[in-house]
Amino acid sequence: MRTIPSGLDRKEAELYSQLDPHQFPKHVAIIMDGNGRWAKRRHLPRIAGHRRGVDSVRKVVTTASNIGLSALTLYAFSAENFTRRPPTEIHFLMKLLHRYLKNELPLMHRNNIRLSFIGRSHMLPQEVQERMAWAKEQTAHHTGMVMTLALNYGSRSEIVDACKSMVNAAANNGGLEHLKIDEESLNRHMYTSNLPDLDLIIRTSGEMRLSNFLLWQAAYAEIYVTKTLWPDFNGVHLLEAIKEYQSRERRYGGLNEPSPGSSN
Ligand code: IPE
Ligand code: IPE
Ligand code: MG
Repeated sequence: MRTIPSGLDRKEAELYSQLDPHQFPKHVAIIMDGNGRWAKRRHLPRIAGHRRGVDSVRKVVTTASNIGLSALTLYAFSAENFTRRPPTEIHFLMKLLHRYLKNELPLMHRNNIRLSFIGRSHMLPQEVQERMAWAKEQTAHHTGMVMTLALNYGSRSEIVDACKSMVNAAANNGGLEHLKIDEESLNRHMYTSNLPDLDLIIRTSGEMRLSNFLLWQAAYAEIYVTKTLWPDFNGVHLLEAIKEYQSRERRYGGLNEPSPGSSN
């Protein structure tokens, strides 16, 4: 009889028991989309969807940590959101984030979660940056799941930043003739260099695109799209995504069949 992690509800425990413990993804990333549509369906302002989305974050983070995931990366808002959404919505999102980073700290402590951030955070309001630094510092000693929030994140700008960082590192370390460019070195200069390889990307609300999220890291990740809107998404949905992930055959460009002449 397999041990079911404590903290899962009945439905989660049932789904968990159907999973293969040896094939858990290490790193799951989620494009948390559909807050606006959730609100629209209820004739509520878009911000009501964002507010409810925070409850989904709490549920999913708790379940992800309970099942022992190493890394969870959440796309909270993109660089494009930051420049293309109305100022009132951006202002609300900043307020929500500022509050979130304080209110959710007890959850991080209880679950031994280490907080991390990716994206061009230096462009965010000063008080948000300060709260981010504070929350990161407060959880720095935790040894459980790494929860990474992508804020003002864009994958193309990440790749540009990684290239600049490689050039700077070489310039400061013996000169540009020491610049070595290969996949491994570029990977080391990505915002995600401290994280395991990405295994699974989940997108809610049905859109079939990556919207400038983790393009480099997604090279061989499995993609799971659900029509469920983010404010309706919870731990059960996360486990359903992992179940589907475990049914996929990851081939990495090879052939997952016995080679001719092999005995199995
Ligand atoms: C995702 O929900 C949250 C953010 C991008 C900040 P949306 O706000 O994109 O919701 P829809 O796609 O309009 O429903
Ligand atoms: C992607 O959703 C960004 C986040 C969920 C944070 P968008 O709603 O911004 O994506 P598009 O505009 O539909 O591609
Ligand atoms: Mg959207």
